[in-house]
Amino acid sequence: MSKRSVRPAPVTSAFSDIDLTRWKDYSSVFTDSLWLFEARARSNGHTYDYHGNYIPQIATQILTRFTRQGDTIVDLFLGSGTTAIEAATLGRRCIGVELQSGLVNAVRKKLRGLVPADAVAVLHGNSASDSIRNRIRRKLRAWGSSHAQLVMLHPPYDDIIQFSENPDDLSNCSTTDEFLDRFGHVARLAFDVLEPGRFAVLIIGDKYADGELVPLGFRCLEKMNEAGFRTKSIVVKNIEGNERGKGKTGNLWRYRALRNGFYIFKHEYVMVFFKPPE
Ligand SMILES: C[S@@+](CC[C@H](N)C(=O)[O-])C[C@H]1O[C@@H](n2cnc3c(N)ncnc32)[C@H](O)[C@@H]1O
Repeated sequence: MSKRSVRPAPVTSAFSDIDLTRWKDYSSVFTDSLWLFEARARSNGHTYDYHGNYIPQIATQILTRFTRQGDTIVDLFLGSGTTAIEAATLGRRCIGVELQSGLVNAVRKKLRGLVPADAVAVLHGNSASDSIRNRIRRKLRAWGSSHAQLVMLHPPYDDIIQFSENPDDLSNCSTTDEFLDRFGHVARLAFDVLEPGRFAVLIIGDKYADGELVPLGFRCLEKMNEAGFRTKSIVVKNIEGNERGKGKTGNLWRYRALRNGFYIFKHEYVMVFFKPPE
């Protein structure tokens, strides 16, 4: 009688397709809280002409750990569409909200031919408004789901980069408290549209103002908690390819840092939250 090795049936958690019977095979999936990337991934049609986009590897890591094939991701600050491209590449769907109409059109055009038409919906709107909630819900229902299975939030880091002249743009708030207040609205919307038991991920950095560190990351974390989310993990990620750190400007920042006693930001946060199961 020949002995054949029988593969055990896959075992997965409720929120991921990672087969736990083969967990040693997933060496590319991070489980540590320090993420160091040398460069941006340049595959899958990503373009890098948009200042302020995140590197696709963030989406790849998060989608692999916290979503399953066929799941829907809502990205409330879609920007140049990084999440949408990675979602479609991994067999997920994405509903993205972006405030700038020019960018919305450019992203729709870029995605045509790159991803299946029914995998991505790009909504033009304000993520801090109530009206967008119904539009997201309508799209979810059209795709046969009452909730999203993951929410991504990569907001402006307060006024560090001004993304547009639009007063609804979170980068145009007149104070950090106003920014946090409006971010709180977005956090509540994220909580409403997310399926209980599933995850929301916030990508954010801190800032300096008036010679003092403003811990934007932790203040936004508090807003997520106030909205009902529980904190699962905080990852520290290097800011790769940051031109400020190089050449003449790099030296200038280094000089200023030595003179004024601060450290130059080389990191941002990837914060993972969950919505408690009902
Ligand atoms: C940090 S970028 C996101 C980049 C994105 N993750 C990517 O990889 O391209 C923040 C984006 O939020 C948009 N934004 C700012 N305020 C908004 C609001 N109230 N509603 C929706 N989008 C907003 C900006 O126009 C900008 O494109």
